[in-house]
Amino acid sequence: MTASSKFPDRDRTPANASRPTHGGNRNWAAQYANCKPEDILDFSASINPLGPPQSVLTAISTHLDRLTAYPDPSYDRLRAALSDFHNLPADWILPGNGAAELLTWIGRELARLDTVYLVTPAFADYHRSLAAFNAKVVAQPMDLKTPSPQRAIEFPSSPPRKSCGLLLNNPHNPTGTLTPREVLLPYLEQFALVVVDEAFMDFLPLDLQQSLLDLILDFPNLVVLRSLTKFYSLPGLRLGYAIARPDYLRRWQQWRDPWPVNILAEVAAIAALQDRGFQQQTWDWLSPTRTALMEGLQTLPGLTPRPSAANFILVETEVPSSQLQRDLLKSQQVLIRDCLSFPELGDRYFRIAVRLPAENERLLTSLEQILQK
Ligand SMILES: Cc1ncc(COP(=O)(O)O)c(C=O)c1O
Repeated sequence: MTASSKFPDRDRTPANASRPTHGGNRNWAAQYANCKPEDILDFSASINPLGPPQSVLTAISTHLDRLTAYPDPSYDRLRAALSDFHNLPADWILPGNGAAELLTWIGRELARLDTVYLVTPAFADYHRSLAAFNAKVVAQPMDLKTPSPQRAIEFPSSPPRKSCGLLLNNPHNPTGTLTPREVLLPYLEQFALVVVDEAFMDFLPLDLQQSLLDLILDFPNLVVLRSLTKFYSLPGLRLGYAIARPDYLRRWQQWRDPWPVNILAEVAAIAALQDRGFQQQTWDWLSPTRTALMEGLQTLPGLTPRPSAANFILVETEVPSSQLQRDLLKSQQVLIRDCLSFPELGDRYFRIAVRLPAENERLLTSLEQILQK
């Protein structure tokens, strides 16, 4: 008996390895491209290519001796740093093992309501957390055709929603649409609980952000979710936080394990929040680099990129995106995000992160070669 027939789950050749439902799966891509995972140029996960900041790496390496102690289960220092950063009371902030961990408890909270309206296409993890607690979910499809961000999310009429929840993200992943605050404000009056996932909001300079954070103290039914993963390029460390009424946060704290955030993630987050230089550098990089990438995509046959407020671009494609993905991997070791896990988008779209100018050029050249064949 061969090792692979004895352990069929371990036989993960490209032909049978399951297609990832998240971006950033370099192992899967490397099997397909027949190269090492570190040789993949990854446009599929929307991670800041300027990071992680040096300040964060220094904080991690100078605190390695703290690994011998348990983290502080109340995360007082981290919550104080987040409280300074957002100018909000510390007991309204709950750090978690990535935004994904907090989504689990948000899913459980939402599942207590009659129905959860979910703006679609939706980040795959929303489906996971809502399904885990048998939430009754109603899809609220975005209008992908309208050029107006004001009109992208429109509820048909006004059914009673006082016993319902609403889950959406802003800026929206995967479309990159930034919904203006004034569009969201009425929902705070209409729904029992409104959860706004702002995992990508920090990519916008402060004067352009459309965050609802400054309303949090006035609306007991508002939860805002943030992540340090994307902006500070720390997906492997796992650090996110929820901002909401303290009694929600206390309940979620009781539901979960005592130390979801490890000591190194805690010191890294404190250093990241203080690194104003890195924040400015990221804002200075993103806007012109995204514009140049958009313009490059617009010149390629069969591709229609959508305007984006975030650090990624959704592109409509005449060639099926799964085929483009395969060709890019095989010939160039470049990974883009197909959209097959978003049923509303399917093979007609792919998503790419905005990376460094030279890397974006490599993507454009690779796409050009493939599309001209
Ligand atoms: C919209 C959105 N929210 C939350 C997350 C999860 O972030 P984290 O890495 O902090 O768990 C992601 C990750 O892809 C995301 O795209």
